[in-house]
Amino acid sequence: MAKSSVQIIRSKKELRAQVTEWHMKGLKVGMVPTMGALHHGHLSLIKEIQKHVDKVVVSIFVNPKQFGPNEDFDKYPRSETTDIKKLNKVKTDLLYAPEVGEIYPDGFLTVVAVAKLTEGLCAAKRPGHFDGVTTVVTKLLLQCLPDVALFGEKDFQQYTVLKQMAKDLDMPTEVMCGKLIRDEDGLATSSRNVYLSPEERKIALEIPKTLKQIISEIEEDNLPVEEALEKGSKHLLDSGFKEVQYLEIRQSEDLEPLTRTFAETSPILARILVAAVVGKTRLIDNMPIKIFF
Ligand code: PAF
Repeated sequence: MAKSSVQIIRSKKELRAQVTEWHMKGLKVGMVPTMGALHHGHLSLIKEIQKHVDKVVVSIFVNPKQFGPNEDFDKYPRSETTDIKKLNKVKTDLLYAPEVGEIYPDGFLTVVAVAKLTEGLCAAKRPGHFDGVTTVVTKLLLQCLPDVALFGEKDFQQYTVLKQMAKDLDMPTEVMCGKLIRDEDGLATSSRNVYLSPEERKIALEIPKTLKQIISEIEEDNLPVEEALEKGSKHLLDSGFKEVQYLEIRQSEDLEPLTRTFAETSPILARILVAAVVGKTRLIDNMPIKIFF
């Protein structure tokens, strides 16, 4: 069997040239932006986007602008050689792995910011995080000009923000959401899971269990939303989490708090979203939930 080998490009000029060549041949191009340390969640995004396009570009760039001063930018896992092997296994066409200067050259002054959607949830404890994400994703999408870009459902707020940004800025790229992938034990895949000790991982598993429990209490037992969330939050703390940064239910479409004005269209399709800290690791997760008023 012929061994496929991903084409590796580090400059925006070469990236544009290759994508232009594909477009001129009438091929559809998809992009999966990542920060590397690829796991099977990323690989599932690549397989998913392959169904919609002819050529797939994966970017690996650990974006300094989306990490706060006390966050894990320096220790964020970097494993390009292993990542390339994984990209070859799923037949990725092109890896775009730029150096920092290719994204933020000297004198770079621009910030791309989306209002409102970036105000609560993850933004509350990570000020500036989403401005870093929207700025880098704007750069990556403009450098590549893909027809479609796919972002994981685990970062549901990020996906919602990026979809709004692409729409507001008339970007020629369709922003899509790829299914959240879990490990066999139920934990949402994340590059940060490597930080967890076996003991912390056991505690971390209480996140998906608690979300499922809350969903069943609300959807099946009609427990009031606030009561179920309070119980869930207490359970996470009792299980060993150091902090529950948020445990909330928001409307899926716009991440607004639940409102009764939508009663005619009940049930509301909503999301239960959580961020909690175990040891030094911050984990996020979310699931769809139906709310009946
Ligand atoms: O989800 C991620 O890995 C990052 O936030 C992204 C979208 C690649 C931007 O750096």
